[in-house]
Parts: sequence; C-alpha cells; structure tokens
Amino acid sequence: MALHIEKQAGACGALVTGLDLTTPVSDEVLAALHAALLEHLVIAIRGQAAMTPEDQIAFAARWGTIEPHPYVEPIEGYPEMIRIYDPNPLTETWHTDFSYNPTPPALSFLLARVIPAYGGDTMFSSSYRVFESLGPGLQECLRGLRAYHEGTPLARSKGLSPEDVQCVHPVVNRHPETGRELVNVNACYVKHLDGWTAEESAPLLTYLYEQWGRPEFTYRHHWQVGDLLIWDNRAVQHRAVGDTDGQPRDLHRVTVSLPTV
Ligand code: SIN
Repeated sequence: MALHIEKQAGACGALVTGLDLTTPVSDEVLAALHAALLEHLVIAIRGQAAMTPEDQIAFAARWGTIEPHPYVEPIEGYPEMIRIYDPNPLTETWHTDFSYNPTPPALSFLLARVIPAYGGDTMFSSSYRVFESLGPGLQECLRGLRAYHEGTPLARSKGLSPEDVQCVHPVVNRHPETGRELVNVNACYVKHLDGWTAEESAPLLTYLYEQWGRPEFTYRHHWQVGDLLIWDNRAVQHRAVGDTDGQPRDLHRVTVSLPTV
C-alpha cells in the first residue's frame, strides 16, 4: 500500500489512504503525515476500523503527550480516551478543544466506530483564513486584544474549581510551527473580551464567529466507519452537524499536546 494524500477543499481537509495503523508506522511516514497536517489542517486517514483503543492511543502518543480530557468521563479502561456520541448543542457550536486551558492540546485524533446511515458529519474551518480575510485595521486591533475562556458547568459537577477551567488567551495567535497568524476566539468557551463586558464584546465576537461559517473556509467530513481524523486544534475550529435523527453514532477521541505549544 502506498501512502496517498488528496486535498479535499481549498482552505482545509485532505484524505489519506494506503496506511494500516494497527502496526507502528515508520518515522518517515509520521513526518509525511505531520507535514500534511500542517498544510491541510485536518487529515482523514481512511480504513482504520481494525485499530484497537491501544493502537489509537499508541499512534497518538507518537505525535506528542496525551492530554486526557479534564472533566468528561473517559472510556472505561482507557483514561486517555473519551467517547463522542450524538451531536449536541456544545459540539454543534464552532470551537477548539479545551480552549479554557492555559495550554490547550495541539492535536485531536477522532476514530469513527459507529456512524449513522445519514447525517452527523463533522465540519472544520480555517482560523488562518478567518484572520487573513479581515481588513488590516481590524487585524491590528485584534492583535491588541485578549479573550476570557471558560469550561462548561460539567467541569464544576466533576469537582473542578472555576480556576481549573478558565483562562485568558490572545485573540490573535501565531501558529508555533507555521508562523501564520490566526484568530483564536470560539463561541463555545469565550465569555467576553478581557476588560470588556459581555455586552460590549458581543458585536465584535459575533462578527468574528460568523466568519468560521463561510463555506469557502470549511471542509465537511462525511464519515465512514474506520476513518481516523487528525486535526490541528491550533489552526481550525470544528463542529458537528446535528441531523442524525437520533441514530447511533460513536467516535473515540484522544488529544495530544506538543512541546512547541
Ligand atoms: C468534537 O467536538 O470533538 C466532536 C465533533 C463531532 O461530534 O463530530
């Protein structure tokens, strides 16, 4: 099997075939996947239904340090892994994973175990394109701002204190590997701009959030069982599409931090 990487959309998204991740890949293949991820921001590795949870965890650990979810209950026996079911109001909102952490994970690895006969796609949108589409005046203004991020009430119910799931991040980040600037605010976890009230923040944040929905910035992944998606949590936002009509959906996620973040 030869590794094949095929771009799927203009702003982000590539399909990868020709890999069997039930056995360790070479350093060369890993480097090619890393380069593809930096270029395409999200890569879908097809045909990995035979991967065990151990395989998925071992593969993710080749990229960096596994970061277990701070408060979502893990899959029994696998503290590194959480289950993603039906789309819900949280996952149906554009977001990056754990943005309420001072150092959110750089990468997410999501493997499809059960997918509905229709619906339940996952969408991705480029935070680089959002920044690059703005006028220079607004870009410069955003470079001077910070935003307050906070985790969901579930964190409190799991015994975490508010301080464990809140932080302030710059509104504009420079990607530590590509050097490209991007906008880093999301509708799930940002409550307001730092030093601004929620009411003062809302018009600017709402305008920014709308940009991730621009079709030309997005890639929409239609799942097959055994698809392993890796996305660069620093460079894209993602959201689920809630049109499964209640059919079963089960995906397993592992998140990883990199030393450069
Ligand atoms: C997620 O937010 O990580 C899950 C997205 C999905 O359910 O498609």
